[in-house]
Amino acid sequence: MAPISQQAIDAIMNASDIVDIVGEYVKLQPAGKNFKGLCPFHSEKTPSFFVSPEKHIFHCFGCGEKGNAAAFLSKYKNISWPEAMKELADRSGIPLELDRKYGPDESFQRYYEINATASDFYQLALTNSREGKPALDYLLGRGLDLHTIQQFELGYSPDSADQLYRNLKGKYQELDMLQIGLIKKNAEGNYYDLFRNRVMFPIKNEYGKVVAFSGRLYQKAENEPKYVNSPFTEIFTKGDTLYNLDRAQPAIKTAKRVILYEGFMDVIASVNAGVKEAVASMGTALTPTQAALIKRFADKVCVCYDGDEPGFEAISKAIPLLEEAKLDVSVLLLPDDLDPDEFVRKYSAEQYRDFVANNQVDKYEFKYQRLIRHADLRRAAEVERVKLELFRWLIDSKSGTLVHIYVDKLANDLHIDVETLMGDFRAYGFTQNLKVTQAAERGRAGQAAVLDRNYTAEVYLMNYYFQNVEYRRRIEAELTPYFVQDEFLKMVLIEAQDILEVRPSADLVGEIARRMTGDRKREFEKVVIGKLDYSEKGLSECITTIKSRGFDDRIKELETARALLDKSSPEYLAKSEEIKNLRKGRENLWKKTKS
Ligand code: GTP
Ligand code: MN
Repeated sequence: MAPISQQAIDAIMNASDIVDIVGEYVKLQPAGKNFKGLCPFHSEKTPSFFVSPEKHIFHCFGCGEKGNAAAFLSKYKNISWPEAMKELADRSGIPLELDRKYGPDESFQRYYEINATASDFYQLALTNSREGKPALDYLLGRGLDLHTIQQFELGYSPDSADQLYRNLKGKYQELDMLQIGLIKKNAEGNYYDLFRNRVMFPIKNEYGKVVAFSGRLYQKAENEPKYVNSPFTEIFTKGDTLYNLDRAQPAIKTAKRVILYEGFMDVIASVNAGVKEAVASMGTALTPTQAALIKRFADKVCVCYDGDEPGFEAISKAIPLLEEAKLDVSVLLLPDDLDPDEFVRKYSAEQYRDFVANNQVDKYEFKYQRLIRHADLRRAAEVERVKLELFRWLIDSKSGTLVHIYVDKLANDLHIDVETLMGDFRAYGFTQNLKVTQAAERGRAGQAAVLDRNYTAEVYLMNYYFQNVEYRRRIEAELTPYFVQDEFLKMVLIEAQDILEVRPSADLVGEIARRMTGDRKREFEKVVIGKLDYSEKGLSECITTIKSRGFDDRIKELETARALLDKSSPEYLAKSEEIKNLRKGRENLWKKTKS
């Protein structure tokens, strides 16, 4: 059920001027029929963010964000769509009352009510019954106080066949209790409770409705799982839910980030320590739905999983998922394989807050830490393994900055000098490159002319790059630092940037040639074109070729994705629209270059 009537939506949207609204947050300047400015949703130096008063939409051609005024506000201020509509309504003086419960699906209201009653029952059993005393003692023994226990509405499921059932009976339909997994029916047709003799964690959706429970053992039990969750139901899918997202929202708004933990106890420890923007994926396998859910509330996420090997593995898997959801990701690695709960207990709440504030690392540092974590760097074989693995990902990263940072770091950690390690890195890079070139020779016959055109553009650009500082600046301004895909040219480029960093006025060709021997040298001589007709126009064409390859890649990606979709689906149409825009973008690029 929509929380706002279509009539109200139409009235509000008609009364809202998108240029006015966006203009309050983004500096806009006229561009033909439209307005443009720097996109607030990704970082850029030249405007690719457009607002169309005619179509009542904004669209960023850089990051792809687009939508109407309500979508802009919702995205910009991290608020829900109804909240954005409310703000627009207020601006135009249109009366709009938001139903406080606009979020969750009303048709499930009776399920939420049963769960709320069950949660009350479990809470009472924990704090007000003799039976619950050992469970309560367990929680207190883990450093939780009564206030925290109440805050998180923790409970206790009695060690009996059907206490919960008897308590709910008469108030609710058996069928509904079965549906949400609180009770089961045995062969004799009797109902019995699913959760028995466990500490109970109510799991709520982002609107604060209890959708499921998780019960934890609090004493030793053979062959029993530590946690038992409610089954999948109409209102609960584990992979769609984040623990504590309902309560964390105000803190997320303030901190502008989410801290993602593995488990219930981590979240509770974090909140207790004052880091309240805490949610848990409930286990380690983060899903794309959970990533998208985070993105609805923040643009930044910090992953803080357990510091053991499964935790590291889970972080590696979570990072690309979160990035796919366009989240800015950092990682918090706790020392000594501690989890947050153990950290707070071993140190203090204050130290935990400090640690969170000062020890987040990016994905590269995480990868590096993981690589050297258990490596015994006194053993030659280990050193070689670590070295090769590092080199491999440095080459894949295509970033000279990363090469510098991590060759430096590893040299430091190995206590050898940077130059020696850099030498190893270059040697490795060139052998790899040789293999690639040889493979390319073999497959050359079948390769399309486009490939050659791109390669030629790269070679030419490289030569422009060598030619003088003006060309270099222009290339650097218009293309990403590692615009070349060819492995050999990539190595040459790293080499060149290496040299320029020390001596900006160096004779690049001479200097690089001096550093090379044998096969590499011959290969290098092949790509240096002495008497090229250098011109701004020639350079423009090369730059456009490379930029246009970016468009081609994106188009191909979209076409592949589209092929899997139903032709009449909105996603198919959206992808087609995007492809059309990209083609137009590519065409314009060439028009501009040719004129
Ligand atoms: P404590 O062990 O009490 O400190 O809780 P924890 O939350 O730190 O647990 P742990 O780090 O072992 O696991 C992280 C999360 O994975 C838990 O909060 C649960 O959501 C989930 N989990 C752990 N063990 C099980 C299990 O046996 N079954 C299920 N279904 N989930 C589990
Ligand atoms: Mn734990």
